[in-house]
Amino acid sequence: MTNIQKCGVIGVGFVGATCAYTLAVSGLFSDLVLVDMNRDKAIGEAADINHGVAFSKPCRVMAGDYADLAECGLIIIAAGANQKPGESRLELLGRNKGILSSIIAQLTAVNREAILLVVSNPVDVLTCLAQQLSGFPAGRVLGSGTVLDTARLKYLLGQRLGVDSRNVHAFIIGEHGDSELAVWSSANISGADLDDYCRIAGITKPADELSRIYEHVRDAAYQIIDSKGATYYGIGMAVRRIAEAIVRNEHSVLPVTSMIHGHYGVDGICLGVPTIVGRNGAEAVLDIPLSEEELAQLQRSANTMREMIDKLDG
Ligand code: NAD
Ligand code: LAC
Repeated sequence: MTNIQKCGVIGVGFVGATCAYTLAVSGLFSDLVLVDMNRDKAIGEAADINHGVAFSKPCRVMAGDYADLAECGLIIIAAGANQKPGESRLELLGRNKGILSSIIAQLTAVNREAILLVVSNPVDVLTCLAQQLSGFPAGRVLGSGTVLDTARLKYLLGQRLGVDSRNVHAFIIGEHGDSELAVWSSANISGADLDDYCRIAGITKPADELSRIYEHVRDAAYQIIDSKGATYYGIGMAVRRIAEAIVRNEHSVLPVTSMIHGHYGVDGICLGVPTIVGRNGAEAVLDIPLSEEELAQLQRSANTMREMIDKLDG
């Protein structure tokens, strides 16, 4: 029997340890179990976070092994190689598919009820693989998708337009990676048309400016990896937000990686698309309006994923 107040994190490198920290201070969980092939690292991270709990909300953080994940209702998978400067996320697949396979085998031996949230890259392909290998219902195996990319878009647009990023309504969808796209056709600032808002902000060529912002979002991870070696704070905060939607059964719309069947002319592919997220994980994919060009771009992104998945099967 699992308990949604207990959360596991597998892989506590830069990303997993930051997620453990954001989850510990979130107040959402009574227990966090940290598992890593480097047991000493998990022990150190657990101790470090526990030492701050007196300043936060009660939460027991322990380093454990797979048996300790048996009661966890939510399990975050952040194990595996990260990108070296200039490397794409898709290039990690060769290294990370074996790691994911061994994790799913060990995990499903002790727990078949949890919701799995895949964060390791390439996140969309690995989410698909985790669904296949676990045999769990697809909704219970989701990925962090383009939640982080969407937050990057909101941040950059908010900065450029001089408005709170929480009032920017826009999505990045598709692969969490080079083939992702911005859905400009429905983007708005609390209901105000984006182009009108750009004019108010004194932007004379909105199309050029928005295109630069999209490229900045798409390439953000490359730039951060060039400057400091890895990204982890943004994804740590994104994972906390996804966990909140699940634990509190919020039915929030978040662009997590979901299995798509028949939406947007895509079938049997996992991609970041607006999805209702609640206590059952990824509960339903939403059909948001897309322009013809956006639909074509999303389908190209799906084709890229299909090629990667076919390579896995081959
Ligand atoms: P890292 O090298 O700092 O940490 C990886 C950790 O995984 C290490 O502690 C390692 O010991 C552990 N590990 C490796 N194999 C394992 C196994 N079989 N079982 C248990 N633990 C194992 O890397 P990082 O910077 O933390 O990145 C982790 C992953 O997260 C990468 O794939 C990276 O690309 C991805 N990432 C995803 C997003 C996103 O938005 N989805 C954002 C940032 C990073
Ligand atoms: C990100 C990682 C590298 O920060 O996927 O986007």
